[in-house]
Formats: sequence, C-alpha cells, structure tokens
Amino acid sequence: MNSGCVVRVGVCAMPKKVHSEPMRKILGELVSSGVGSFCLVFFESRTLFEQPVQEWPLCDALIAFYSEGFPLERVVAYAELRRPYCLNSLREQQTLLDRAKVYQVLVRHQVPVPRHVVVRHQDGWACDSRFLEHDDYIEWDGVRLYKPFVEKPVDAEDHRVCIYYAKPLYGCRRLFRKTASLSSVFDPECRRVRRCGSFIYEEFIPSEHQSDIKVYAVGPEYAYAERRKSPVVDGIVERNTVGKEVRFPVELTAAERRVAATITTAFGQFVCGFDLIRHADGSSFYVNDVNGFSFVKGSEAYYRSCGRILADHLARECLGRSRLGDGPPGV
Ligand SMILES: Nc1ncnc2c1ncn2[C@@H]1O[C@H](COP(=O)(O)OP(=O)(O)OP(=O)(O)O)[C@@H](O)[C@H]1O
Ligand SMILES: [Mg+2]
Repeated sequence: MNSGCVVRVGVCAMPKKVHSEPMRKILGELVSSGVGSFCLVFFESRTLFEQPVQEWPLCDALIAFYSEGFPLERVVAYAELRRPYCLNSLREQQTLLDRAKVYQVLVRHQVPVPRHVVVRHQDGWACDSRFLEHDDYIEWDGVRLYKPFVEKPVDAEDHRVCIYYAKPLYGCRRLFRKTASLSSVFDPECRRVRRCGSFIYEEFIPSEHQSDIKVYAVGPEYAYAERRKSPVVDGIVERNTVGKEVRFPVELTAAERRVAATITTAFGQFVCGFDLIRHADGSSFYVNDVNGFSFVKGSEAYYRSCGRILADHLARECLGRSRLGDGPPGV
C-alpha cells in the first residue's frame, strides 16, 4: 500500500471491464483528483474465482459490479464479511438480473415504464387459460396488449427480445447482441409468441428519431445521455469510419434528470446506466431497461466528471471513519 494512502478502493469486476479504457481513465481521474488520498486494490481473477473470501484483500470502499461470468455470490459473501462501503449495492445487482423485479422497483418509485404484463409460461404448449393469443393481440389475465408489442425474457442477461407486428407486416423482429453490422432481423414466418420460459410483454413505444436514449448516471446529480438508432428500425447498425456506433449527445429534460436520480437511489447503484424511450409524439418518456454499472465509451469529459464525482463521494463516505469491521451494512 502507498504510505500516503488513506482510502483503499477495491476494484472488483471481470478483467475485460477492469482493463477497459473507460475504467482505466475513470480510475486514473479518481486517484489524481486531489480530493482525498486513494489507492486502488485490484481483485485478481484468481482471487475472485479460487481463493476463499477470508483471504481476499481488504479495502475501505468497493467498486464491484456484475457482468457475464462474475461470481456475484462470492463477492456478496466477501462484502458481508468485511463490510466495505459498496459504491453499487451488490444485493440490488441481483435485482437487476430480473427484468420483472426491475419494473416492480421502477413502478414503486413512480418511474414511467411501458404498460406490461409478466407471463410465466408453463413448458411447451401446456395451456394456462389466463393466456390468450390472437392474430393481433395477446391477453393475460384479462389484460390485453395489441400488436406491435415487445416480448422480453425475464432473465435480463438474455437479450433475445422480440417485437411482434400485426397484419399487413405480420411477423416478428428478433433482436440480439449487436454484431459489427446487425442488431436484429425480421422473420415473417414467426407470428406466435414464445411459449417456453418467462417473459415480459409490453406495449411498443414509437420513439422520437427512431432512437434509444442511453443514460449514464453518476450519483443523483450527474447524468450523461446519448441517442442511437433503435435496433427495431431495420437491424442495420450505423457505424462511423472508425467503426464506432453513431451516437448523438442528448440534453435530458428536468423530469428525465429526476428519474435518473431516482434510479441511482432506488437501486443503490451510484454508477448506473439505463435506457429511455422518448415517445415520438413528444408527450412522454419511458424507462425500458436498467443496466447497473456501465460507462460511456470515448468521452474524455465524461471520464473526468465521473472520476471527480467518485472521488468526492468516496472521500465523503470513507474519510474520517474506519469502516473495517464496524461500517454500516453497505452490501
Ligand atoms: N417498449 C418498447 N417499445 C419500443 N421499443 C422497445 C421497447 N422495449 C425495448 N425496445 C427496444 O428494444 C431494445 C432492447 O430492449 P432492452 O433494452 O430492454 O433489452 P436489452 O437486451 O437488455 O438491452 P441492453 O443491450 O441495453 O442490455 C431497446 O434498445 C429498444 O430499442
Ligand atoms: Mg437496453
């Protein structure tokens, strides 16, 4: 440890994230901010996956976040044992893995979400009489949704989102994790919803500029936003000459900024990305996805702001207190 180090900040995530350019730049800003004296404690893969949590390094604050393959349960056990201040609540990261729970939290906090139902299909075509399917709508327990509607796996890590269209288009657009050039394909043969697994069905919101808005909040007072072409338009990814996806900075309205603050607090995620759709008629907006810890790629201004805000926040949370052993439950 550096002799002048006052706050040990643990960095605990999958190696690909820890070594990414945004993460390196944000952490660089944090330690060089001049606010407090921070040193970084990196949790190696071997530690995360092999060592018992009792042997993991100590820290005062923990920046830990889930991405595919991350051993969340082990990190929760570590945080319960050592009780560092957790920048992003680990318990709530479990909530983020379930889209139905995410919508429940949003609704409870009066955040606008698309009108939706959660349907847990029994396996195969075994019928639940509460679920009805017609050419142009579905009905669940008396609630009817007309096409176009969106079908999303409850499992938030499953990105096979489908949009079903009524005649004359009649068919389904299947979304998937973006490749270099494609984000979705239209399947004219697919006219019936999936019957295996648990899904959210929700109204399709036509969006302003046919775009998604990606919001990156850092604490309740700062949010950076940009818009990108929605994958539902035609599935063709717009890229610039150096292969980066085309995006435009967006100024959030006061109501949208309030929602960003609400989301960071409601999910206990100080650094939190989420998706927002502005209705094409300009009348309203909806939050359709909360992603937890994620950062803007390629914006030096964002890296600077994010690093500074983290430095201020962690200094406030950690300085002047010894948290090891007796800190508040930050898990
Ligand atoms: N209710 C809706 N109305 C219109 N379009 C929607 C709706 N819900 C989702 N979409 C579109 O589908 C895309 C994928 O949905 P969503 O963001 O919920 O899934 P995801 O696979 O978790 O995304 P991510 O890649 O952000 O994790 C959105 O970016 C948006 O373009
Ligand atoms: Mg999304």
